[in-house]
Amino acid sequence: MNDQQTIALVTGANRGIGKAFVEALMGQGVTKIYATARTLSSLPDFGSDRVVPLALDVHNPASIKAAAEQAKDINLLINNAGVLSFGDILSVSDDDLRRNFDVNFYGVLSMAREFVPVLENSGGGRIVNILTLLSLASMPGLAAYNASKAAAWSLNMSLRATLANRGINVHGVFPGAVDTDMLAGVEMPKTAPEAVAKAVLDGLAEGKEDIFPDPMSQDVYAAWSQDHKAVEKQFSQM
Ligand SMILES: NC(=O)c1ccc[n+]([C@@H]2O[C@H](COP(=O)([O-])OP(=O)(O)OC[C@H]3O[C@@H](n4cnc5c(N)ncnc54)[C@H](OP(=O)(O)O)[C@@H]3O)[C@@H](O)[C@H]2O)c1
Repeated sequence: MNDQQTIALVTGANRGIGKAFVEALMGQGVTKIYATARTLSSLPDFGSDRVVPLALDVHNPASIKAAAEQAKDINLLINNAGVLSFGDILSVSDDDLRRNFDVNFYGVLSMAREFVPVLENSGGGRIVNILTLLSLASMPGLAAYNASKAAAWSLNMSLRATLANRGINVHGVFPGAVDTDMLAGVEMPKTAPEAVAKAVLDGLAEGKEDIFPDPMSQDVYAAWSQDHKAVEKQFSQM
C-alpha cells in the first residue's frame, strides 16, 4: 500500500499526537485523511481538502457507526484517542477506572469491530493502536491508565491473530513520554508529538508490528527485553 493509495482515519485528531498524525500523513501525500474528534469545532483547520473532518466519540456506539458509514473507503485506521487518570490502584475512583477502560480499551475494541468490515471492503488494510510503554510495566500513580493500556495491548495481540488471514495487519505503538496535554505539568524528558507520528509512519513503512517511536521507549524496551522484572522495579519507584 503506497501513500497515494492510503485513505486514513485518525481518532482524537484535534490535538496532541492525533493532530501530528494528520499533519504527518498530509506530508506523506496520503490521498484522504478523516480527522476525527468528539467535538467537530475543536479540530484545527488543516488547510487541505484532503482532510475530511468527522465527528467521532470512541465511547459512543452510535457515533462510531455513523463514522463508519461516512468513512467507507479507509484502509488505515489509527486508534489514537486516549485518556489518563492519576491515582494508585487502591485510591483511584471507579469512575476514573471506567473512563480509562471505556476509552483506552473498549473504544479501541468498538472501533475495530465496526471498522474491520470497512477495511475488508477496501481490500485489506492496517489498524494502528496507540498503546504506551505502560502497557508493559506499571507506574503505580497511573493505575487506571496502566491497566486499561495493558488490556489494550492484549486486545492488540488478539486482533492481530484474529485478522492475520483477513488482509488486515495490526500494529501496536508503545510511546514513552510525549509532550502533549496528557502529561502537561509532569516534568520529565518528553518527545515532540510530530517526531512520534513520523516514527510511527516510518515503522509502518518498514512493516514493523510493534513500534517504539522515541528514545525513551526504545531504551526501556531494550531493558525490558533483557529483564522485565528490573523494569517493573524501576517503574514502581516512579
Ligand atoms: N502523551 C504521552 O506521553 C503518551 C505516551 C504514550 C502513549 N500516549 C497515547 O497517545 C494517544 C494520544 O495521546 P496524547 O498524548 O495526544 O493526549 P492528549 O493530548 O490528551 O489527546 C487525547 C486525545 O484523545 C481524545 N479523546 C479522549 N476521549 C475521547 C473519546 N471518547 N472519543 C474520541 N476522542 C477522545 C481527545 O479529545 P478531546 O480533545 O475531545 O478530549 C484528544 O484528542 C493516547 O492513546 C495516549 O494514551 C500518550
